[in-house]
Amino acid sequence: MARGRFITFEGGEGAGKSTQVRRLVARLDAAGIEVVATREPGGSPGAEAIRALVLTGSADRWSPITETLLMYGARRDHIERTITPALERGAWVVCDRFADSTRAYQGGAGDVAPELIAALETHVLGTVRPDLTLVFDLPVDVGLARAEVHAKASGHAETRFESKGLAFHERLRTAFRQIAAAEPERCVLVDAAGTIETVESDVWTAVSDRLHPHG
Ligand SMILES: Nc1ncnc2c1ncn2[C@@H]1O[C@H](COP(=O)(O)OP(=O)(O)O)[C@@H](O)[C@H]1O
Ligand SMILES: [Mg+2]
Repeated sequence: MARGRFITFEGGEGAGKSTQVRRLVARLDAAGIEVVATREPGGSPGAEAIRALVLTGSADRWSPITETLLMYGARRDHIERTITPALERGAWVVCDRFADSTRAYQGGAGDVAPELIAALETHVLGTVRPDLTLVFDLPVDVGLARAEVHAKASGHAETRFESKGLAFHERLRTAFRQIAAAEPERCVLVDAAGTIETVESDVWTAVSDRLHPHG
């Protein structure tokens, strides 16, 4: 059995990542592909326990460097227990956030040294790297407004990251755009300001062109 493909969705709060993960999973499923939908932080029981620590509480509950280590603890467990077993049995894995979120949130917006993050990628990710990363880009105010409406409608409290200031989110957007520009062979920048249907179609075009889900 050939190894499955690993697709990650990245970008700021309210960009539409979770919405489009669901739509892509439905399309891959309809194409007859076994697909595992997962998310970070989380995606395995241990990592979900760390998620609760990282996403709840006051904005300054953890320093960026502590966050980096918690995220990588969660990520390693997620890789060992969920991602690698799925890829090895030939399933495709679609993940809502992955390592680029650490580069952007804790690195770009949090000032954690890029050398530390690069070392963690080398030693903790190893060879587990996305085949395709969709980087969702939209103006910060639009994303935060969407996230706020979504939080109210779903009864979820806003996360620690949503409660950080506008300047943090601007730095985040810049960092994600830089990642997409630096690794064009892996990343596609998606204009997330369009309708849900337009974005879904752009995502499917990127996945079809790059990964040929129809064989
Ligand atoms: N293209 C879009 N246009 C308008 N609203 C959207 C769009 N995509 C998602 N939404 C809405 O915005 C909110 C946040 O979307 P979500 O997928 O949860 O974003 P993320 O996972 O990136 O934080 C949800 O209420 C969702 O229905
Ligand atoms: Mg989401």
